[in-house]
Amino acid sequence: MNENITFSIIKPNAVRTGKTGPILAMINEAGFEISAMKMVRMTTGQAESFYAVHKGKPFFDGLVEFMTSGPVFVMILRHANAVEEFRKLIGATDPNKAEPGTIRKLFAVSVQMNAVHGSDSDENADKEAGFFFSTSERF
Ligand code: RTP
Ligand code: MG
Repeated sequence: MNENITFSIIKPNAVRTGKTGPILAMINEAGFEISAMKMVRMTTGQAESFYAVHKGKPFFDGLVEFMTSGPVFVMILRHANAVEEFRKLIGATDPNKAEPGTIRKLFAVSVQMNAVHGSDSDENADKEAGFFFSTSERF
C-alpha cells in the first residue's frame, strides 16, 4: 500500500465541456504530480466493475450510463497523504455541499455529474490504479 498515490478520473461531463485543462491546472497548483494519465472511453463492463461497490444502489445504472457516455481522463496522482489531500481539493460528492474553491464546487453540475473521481482509501487507490495502468505505464 502506498499512502502517496491516489487515483482520479476527470468525468465525461467535464471532458465534454472543455474543463480538462482548468482541472489539471488546479491539480498541479495544489502540488500533485501526475504519475500516469490517459484518455479512455470506459465500456459498460469496466464501469460496472469499477463501481461494483455501488451495485444495487438506486443511482448505479445511471452512474454506469453517465461514466460510459464519453471519454474520460484516468490518472494516478502523487502527493504526501494523497487520498485525503485530493478529496479536500475535489470537495464533497454533492456540489451544493462542496467548499468554495474546490474542483466540484467549480465544475460539478449535479451529484452524478460531479466532474471528478478521487479514491476513498489507500487500498482502493491501489486497486483503481491497477484497474487502468500496468506498472510500465507509471512514472
Ligand atoms: P467518487 O467515487 O466519484 O470520487 O465520488 P464519491 O466517493 O464522492 O462518491 P461515491 O459515494 O463513491 O459515489 C460515486 C459516484 O456516484 C455518483 N452518485 N450519484 N445520484 C446520487 O445520489 C449519486 N450518489 C453518488 C457520483 O458521480 C459519485 O461521484
Ligand atoms: Mg467514491
